[in-house]
Amino acid sequence: MKKLAIRKLFTPIQVGPMQLEHRVAMAPLTRSRSVQPGNIPGNLMLEYYSQRASDGGLIVSEATSISISGGGWFGAPGLYSDEQVAGWERITNAVHAKRGYMFSQLWHTGRASHVDSTNGTTPVSSSVNPEYWQDPTIKESTPHGWQQPSPHRALDIREIPSIVEDYRGAAERAKAAGFDGVELHAGNGYLPDQFLQDGINKRTDMYGGSFENRSRFLLQVVEALVSVWGGNRVAVRIAPSGTWNGVSDSNPIALFDYVAKQLNRFGLAYLHIIEPRIKGNVLIAEGQGHIATARLRKVFTGKIIAAGGFEPDTAEAAVQEGDADLVAFGRHFVANPDLPKRIRLGLPLNAYDRDTFYTFDAHGYTDYPFYEQRSESLASTL
Ligand SMILES: Cc1cc2nc3c(=O)[nH]c(=O)nc-3n(C[C@H](O)[C@H](O)[C@H](O)COP(=O)(O)O)c2cc1C
Repeated sequence: MKKLAIRKLFTPIQVGPMQLEHRVAMAPLTRSRSVQPGNIPGNLMLEYYSQRASDGGLIVSEATSISISGGGWFGAPGLYSDEQVAGWERITNAVHAKRGYMFSQLWHTGRASHVDSTNGTTPVSSSVNPEYWQDPTIKESTPHGWQQPSPHRALDIREIPSIVEDYRGAAERAKAAGFDGVELHAGNGYLPDQFLQDGINKRTDMYGGSFENRSRFLLQVVEALVSVWGGNRVAVRIAPSGTWNGVSDSNPIALFDYVAKQLNRFGLAYLHIIEPRIKGNVLIAEGQGHIATARLRKVFTGKIIAAGGFEPDTAEAAVQEGDADLVAFGRHFVANPDLPKRIRLGLPLNAYDRDTFYTFDAHGYTDYPFYEQRSESLASTL
């Protein structure tokens, strides 16, 4: 089959107030390298993001905890302390110095957590599902290694406003840290998804039951973020028909159509869609196209970033066909600090090393070579 020429990925596009020069975005990637104690972005993270910043390119930060009790991943950075804001500010300055843009992905893990990561606070969710913490295949990264999640409890309806306030507070700190906007992590089975999907949400109050009720939490959080940033600097990431983290829904297509339609009213910077062929960070449906993006393109009226299982030529096709405005790459960005350049010039890509996705040092993080470095080191061995 003839390879598609890469053209449209490298045409400019306006996203919210940002004038991007290309459409190869960096997907949010949890990498566990924040400084401990305190979950503070330090020098290693600064180097990693500086390496991956490109002229007119968009980076979405790794998922960032909005509160200690909402944190569920050892080494994930936060946005709830002044030290974290100062750490992020150095990173956004470095990205901007390379004429790049950066959104902060805001994260509450809900039930996907362990008391060792939350200062002992019991994880919360929409409802109680013991099969989740009893599933031996589900593991959380904790200060004491990989462990099954702790038992969680259902949020009392009176507690929900304070979680929405935690999101608002993190959005304000993201602003103080110099980000260009915020992306709500509402996919992959984290707290907003735990409200959306009826395989998890069994509530009988105004946050459970109908699509309207199950979307209420998500929409309240989006409203809070918009109150801080304005709609065009807020984005939402969803995983329609996603199966990571034990999520399921009895009617996912109709549910996410509803969600996308509701999001139209905010004038968001973009909707970020993870294709169901990806489960977390693994491709589970080889050969499946970008079905979620193609569908939601007909429903959502703003810009769309598609993600999950893309290669340069399938990304180009999604943009050329008009289904996506940008494509976010995850694993290829892990391994290729200069990914946009490599895609533009058709250069070979470094392979990623799954074993170092969630380790704690520079190896497998900042030591992937740039293309020039690779050719220089090759030259020196000749
Ligand atoms: C190491 C790693 C960490 C990830 N962390 C996050 C995260 O923090 N937030 C998120 O929304 N998705 C996260 N993902 C999912 C990616 O953003 C992306 O959706 C997934 O890797 C599929 O895209 P790809 O096929 O281009 O890798 C992560 C994936 C990987 C490989």
